[in-house]
Amino acid sequence: MTKTQEFINAIIPHKIAKKTGTGLADVNIALSKYWGKRDSELNLPTNSSLSISLPGLGTRTQVSVHNNADITSDQIWLNNQKLDADNPFATRLSKFLDLFRATPSTYFEINTKNTVPTAAGLASSASGYAALVLALNDCFDWQLTKKDLSLLARLGSGSASRSVYDGFVIWHKGNAENGLDSFAETINTCWPEFCVGLLEIDLKAKKIGSTAGMQQTVNHCALYQAWPEKAEEDVKAIQQAIVQKDFSQLGALAENNALSMHATMIATWPPILYWQPESVEAMQTVWALRESGIDVYFTMDAGPNLKLLFLEKDADAIQQAFPKLKLIRPFH
Ligand code: DP6
Repeated sequence: MTKTQEFINAIIPHKIAKKTGTGLADVNIALSKYWGKRDSELNLPTNSSLSISLPGLGTRTQVSVHNNADITSDQIWLNNQKLDADNPFATRLSKFLDLFRATPSTYFEINTKNTVPTAAGLASSASGYAALVLALNDCFDWQLTKKDLSLLARLGSGSASRSVYDGFVIWHKGNAENGLDSFAETINTCWPEFCVGLLEIDLKAKKIGSTAGMQQTVNHCALYQAWPEKAEEDVKAIQQAIVQKDFSQLGALAENNALSMHATMIATWPPILYWQPESVEAMQTVWALRESGIDVYFTMDAGPNLKLLFLEKDADAIQQAFPKLKLIRPFH
C-alpha cells in the first residue's frame, strides 16, 4: 500500500456513494506564505502558513459517481466547458480522484465553477480542492470533521487545507511522517473593519504554477535555507497581531513575508519572477500612500496581482488611489 493510500484509509470511513454531492469553498489569501514541500507525495509543507478566506470568491463543485459501463474516464467540466482527458487541470483532478474510487472502473462526473479566474494567482486551486473534498464528503456521506476535510484537501493542493474554513486560518506544518498532523484550523477572531482589496494586474494563466515554482526554489535557491524559520516566526507573530488587533503590525509582517518569499523565487536559477511593471508601480503607490499616513500593505502570491490589506476607515482613500480595486470585507 502506498503512503498516500495509508493516509486516506486513516481518514475516510467507508465508500458507499450517495451518488451525488455538492461542495462550496472560498479562496484564501496567505498572510504568511506556504512555499516549499518536505514530502511531495503527501503534500507536506516545509513551513506553517496563515491566511484569510475571502467570502463570495471561490468554487462550487458537484460530484456524481457514474455507474454507466460505457463511460471509461472521468467527465470533468470547468465553468460549463467539458475538458479533454489530457487537459492538465483534468489530469491533476483525475489523479486526485484515483484516491477515492471504489473500484478502478469507478468514474466521476465533476462539474466545477470558479468565481475567480482559474490559475491567475488568485488561489483557485485552494477553493477548488476544498470544494471537491466537501462535495466528495457529501457524495459518499463520510461526515468528516473540518480537520479531516482539511487533511484531505491538503493532498489536492496545500493551500486548499486552509479553504475549508472562513476567517483567519492557520495551517500547521506538522512533523509526523504519515502527514496526519499537517492540517489547518480556524483562528477564532472576528475583525469587521478588516478589508482586502484585489488589484488585478493580469488574469492570464501564469507560465509556472506554484507546485513547480516552489520545487524549483527549494532545489535551486541558496537563500531558501533561511525561509522555513522566518516563515514559522512570521506565522506566530501574525497570529499574535490578529489576536491583539494590531493592524499595522499585521500588515508590515504580511508584506515583508510576501516580499521574502518572492526574494527566494527571484534568487532561484533559472529565476522566477511573477511581477510585471504594473505590479511594481502598484507597490510604489502603496508605499507612497503609507508615507502619506494611510495604513495600507500588500501581499502577492505566485502571480502579478496584488492583494491590499487595510481597515475600513481608509477604504475610500485607497479606492481613490486604485479605482479598479475589488473590495472584500471578509467578516461581513
Ligand atoms: C504562493 O497550494 O497552489 O499561494 O500544494 O503544490 O498545490 P500546491 O501549491 P499551492 O501553493 C500556494 C502558494 C502560495 C502561498 C500560499 O497560498 O500559502
